[in-house]
Amino acid sequence: MQSDLVCDKNGNNLNKLTIMELQELKRAFAKVFGQQATAVYFAPGRVNLIGEHTDYNGGFVFPCALSFGTYLLVAENNTATMRFQSLNIDGDMVTVGLDALMNPLPNNCWVNYPLGCIAQYIKRGMNISKGYDMLFWGNVPAGAGLSSSAAIEVVTAAVFNDICKAGYDKTELAKIGQLSEHEFAGVNCGIMDQFASAQGKKDHAIFLNCDTLDFQLVPVKLNGVKVVISNTHSPHKLDSGAYNARVAQCQLAVKQLQTVRPELKNLAQLTEAEFKQVESAITDETAHRRARHVVGEVQRTTDAVEALKKGDLTTFGQLMNQSHVSLRDDYEVTGPELDAMAEAAWKIDGVIGSRMTGGGFGGCTVSLVKDEAIPTFIEQVGKEYTAKTGLQAEFYVAEIGDGVRQVND
Ligand code: GLA
Repeated sequence: MQSDLVCDKNGNNLNKLTIMELQELKRAFAKVFGQQATAVYFAPGRVNLIGEHTDYNGGFVFPCALSFGTYLLVAENNTATMRFQSLNIDGDMVTVGLDALMNPLPNNCWVNYPLGCIAQYIKRGMNISKGYDMLFWGNVPAGAGLSSSAAIEVVTAAVFNDICKAGYDKTELAKIGQLSEHEFAGVNCGIMDQFASAQGKKDHAIFLNCDTLDFQLVPVKLNGVKVVISNTHSPHKLDSGAYNARVAQCQLAVKQLQTVRPELKNLAQLTEAEFKQVESAITDETAHRRARHVVGEVQRTTDAVEALKKGDLTTFGQLMNQSHVSLRDDYEVTGPELDAMAEAAWKIDGVIGSRMTGGGFGGCTVSLVKDEAIPTFIEQVGKEYTAKTGLQAEFYVAEIGDGVRQVND
């Protein structure tokens, strides 16, 4: 099945899963496991509009769920094993005994994402005594920073919520996905990706306070403007080492700030003015720049949401651009490909704002582009990006979709 879901040169979306494709998935399940799937679930990927590397600092984020994501087909298998197969990854079926569900698999196996979620149910005292067959297929481009792994985690968490009759709400499903990432994938991520995949709502972005998990769904009404995602196809991925290093640098900044503000819990508690008063307490130069990004980004996110609510897209776009610059200079998570993509976008008439989205290094930028400028955007940005990097860009017009759900046909 096609998994690269792209838009044509006019920005028309080519990424809807048709009923026929769903039938195709069901046939694939029958072929792999020799039985019919009894249920199908879906969880989306996400794009973050603004609020980057703020989530694990107790700050605000503003992501939306996408219309593409991961499908999980499932059926009981009357064995003492869980069997996992992905149609996106070349490789054999992975079988895990029911007595081994708490152990991560070696070599960064993709099955750790779903397995880590199942383990959370066991940790919470649920008895998983039956084996299940699971087939995954996703149309989120992998490694693009659009949360294909969070989609796998959240869809698995939703399936086992029903299997275990746990009755968890969507926020709890997001927490289960995040813990899987921490404990089975070794990435100390924040809650943003799993939260967006769980709680997303069509045509809305989620203004989430990552400290309290209070959130507001804000309508994304962009008259005559679209959210365009540009994939750098860059070989540099945000590996867990670089990500975890950022998390640790922020923790160091908090620790040093506590010498003058003992009650401080996280960086997001400081306004920019307060930060200026105490920043000299951060003696580590790198930690200081990381903290400056976080404090500024939290403010930009609040301001951007206000601007969007007022219909002031110009301000929203300027804040997106500033976010990219801060992620480039202070947080150092952009890299030459994301910078080339954003810089090319900033030159185009009709681009309201453009920035890297997600963890960084490789992956995608997100841009707000006027409808009539989309063909020029795709052509010009694509050309300039290839000239600078030798890589081929790919473009998607984002459709903002709903969060995790069971799919009934
Ligand atoms: C990754 C993580 C998120 C978040 C972003 C950066 O996507 O999974 O928790 O930290 O990076 O904003």
